[in-house]
Amino acid sequence: TELASFARGLPKAELHLHLEGTLEPEMMFTLAQRNGLPLPYSDVAEVKAAYDFTDLTSFLAVYYPAMSVLQTADDFHDLAWAYLLRAKEQGVVHAELFFDPQAHTGRGVPFATVVGGYRRAIVRAQAELGISAELILCFLRDLSAEHAMSTLLEALPYRHWIVGVGLDSDERDNPPTKFAAVFERARAEGFLVTMHCDIDQPGSIDHIRQALEFGVDRIDHGTNIVEDPELVATVLERGIGLTCCPVSNSFVTEQMKSDEIVSLLRSGVRVTINSDDPAYFGGYVADNYVALAEQAGLSASDLAELARNSFHASWLTPARRSAYL
Ligand code: ADE
Ligand code: ZN
Repeated sequence: TELASFARGLPKAELHLHLEGTLEPEMMFTLAQRNGLPLPYSDVAEVKAAYDFTDLTSFLAVYYPAMSVLQTADDFHDLAWAYLLRAKEQGVVHAELFFDPQAHTGRGVPFATVVGGYRRAIVRAQAELGISAELILCFLRDLSAEHAMSTLLEALPYRHWIVGVGLDSDERDNPPTKFAAVFERARAEGFLVTMHCDIDQPGSIDHIRQALEFGVDRIDHGTNIVEDPELVATVLERGIGLTCCPVSNSFVTEQMKSDEIVSLLRSGVRVTINSDDPAYFGGYVADNYVALAEQAGLSASDLAELARNSFHASWLTPARRSAYL
């Protein structure tokens, strides 16, 4: 459609994208074969049939085992490069990319292998595609705070390659306060901070409040904030961006949450649209713009506003940001 080509053509930043969530079934088979690893699936169709998630937990149960095909620095490079090629087609000019080092170091893959492979793809994307990209290290919140802290210390030699830190994985009973010391240390080391406050998770509003009390620079998802006018006032006042992911929402909660997203947008909150785990949820970033527009009846100028928000909420330097505005 006309709106779809407009959405693709809009220069945009992607701010909520898990690199491990870009592992397409075809690549899963390629890497499994290259590394001589067995897969619990016999073909691509069988993998796609397993992508029948009803909530965050059922998604994560498929997501973590799948990434065990990632073994070498070349594998991490190839994964990120494939994403960046697709991102180019989706109009992405800047990307801030989550990665989950503990999901790899926990199965014996060195931190240096993960970050080195990803970094090589990022340098290549700048040179060959004209896309700038940064890495955000996410701590797995269902593991201990001590494990997160040791991962942060492992990352320090690579801090020039990592713009910030985040918090993801299973939110239930894993509030931001659990990681207070880790995030304090990360901030003291110069990392920017964002945290997932996933859609409709138990304790969602409390988690958003804790994240804001800590002083996060951004919130991932965070859509439940509509329930609390005081918290909405806080993000408005501080100019905090929310990285919403409509297609992902429809898997995790069976709704895109378009009314909530649009209501926040109309209130002036820095709402951005992103793809989260596109290989699993079936929509890259421009597809998310279109899905939301179709569901909520948004216009081309609404989509342009969302794209502008993506630069405002990005962690680009003011000089580089203003080049896109
Ligand atoms: N890890 C990858 N995608 C995630 C999501 N949407 N929420 C929490 N953890 C994740
Ligand atoms: Zn996410």
